[in-house]
Amino acid sequence: MTEPLCRITDLSVRYRHNTALTHVSLDLIGGERLAIVGESGSGKSTFARALAGLLPDNAVRDGDIQWSSERAPRPGRDIGFVFQDSSASLNPVLRIGEQVAEGAKRHLGMSWKAAYAHAEMLLDHVRIPNPSAVMRAYPRQLSGGQRQRVAIAAAIASRPSILIADEATSALDTVVQAEITALLDRLVSEAAMTLIFVTHDIALASNLADRIAVLKDGRLVEIGPVSDILADPKSDDTRNLLAGHFDLTSAPLIGGQRR
Ligand SMILES: Nc1ncnc2c1ncn2[C@@H]1O[C@H](COP(=O)(O)OP(=O)(O)OP(=O)(O)O)[C@@H](O)[C@H]1O
Ligand SMILES: [Mg+2]
Repeated sequence: MTEPLCRITDLSVRYRHNTALTHVSLDLIGGERLAIVGESGSGKSTFARALAGLLPDNAVRDGDIQWSSERAPRPGRDIGFVFQDSSASLNPVLRIGEQVAEGAKRHLGMSWKAAYAHAEMLLDHVRIPNPSAVMRAYPRQLSGGQRQRVAIAAAIASRPSILIADEATSALDTVVQAEITALLDRLVSEAAMTLIFVTHDIALASNLADRIAVLKDGRLVEIGPVSDILADPKSDDTRNLLAGHFDLTSAPLIGGQRR
């Protein structure tokens, strides 16, 4: 077997009053799409943040996160992060163009002029209509779905090799959610990024991911290929998620396997 991109061993994270992750071990495979699934409070965001090196100051981490590369990938540079709510990742008082260009300028060493051109190209790439006008707009002037497209454009502006999307579609209605999921699907394929897709919705996860990891109360209760998890879930917690979220009457959002 090839060496994993990242080996996580006995990862535990606690905050002052509670434990968010307990002895989580898993290998992240380069180029895969791994969904982190679980109910609210199961530790998904804590896991995503720990992996990205973005834990808040009040978190205490134990265990090991070993990257195969010589240095750990840098958040904002090698790891793009998309948050649930675009208002958490976009600055309300900065124009869109500036925010998307910032990552390219800082991390790719582009001049402002080149970074702006790169940003406008990215807005087009995430299918924002009329990108040159949107470059001059403020976040509040856009719809929720458009803001999330902008947040994704900003996350990939530095051409990261890893993209972490933490409930990036949860705040959106189902139609827009499907569009943004399809967008992530396309971008990740095109740039051959490794995707960590955090969601409470196991149906959504199964449409986008290669493997699913199920968290419950901070513990990893199951991990495996989507087909195995759907056909033969090993854990009651996985079965509960499947029963709660899998709408068997609906067609796949983006349909079948991508690769
Ligand atoms: N910054 C923080 N300070 C203190 N406790 C926190 C912090 N962030 C998370 N927690 C606690 O850690 C546990 C796991 O939270 P986490 O946000 O990782 O779960 P989650 O699965 O992402 O939940 P959700 O689906 O609601 O986003 C919860 O008990 C939560 O209250
Ligand atoms: Mg969360």
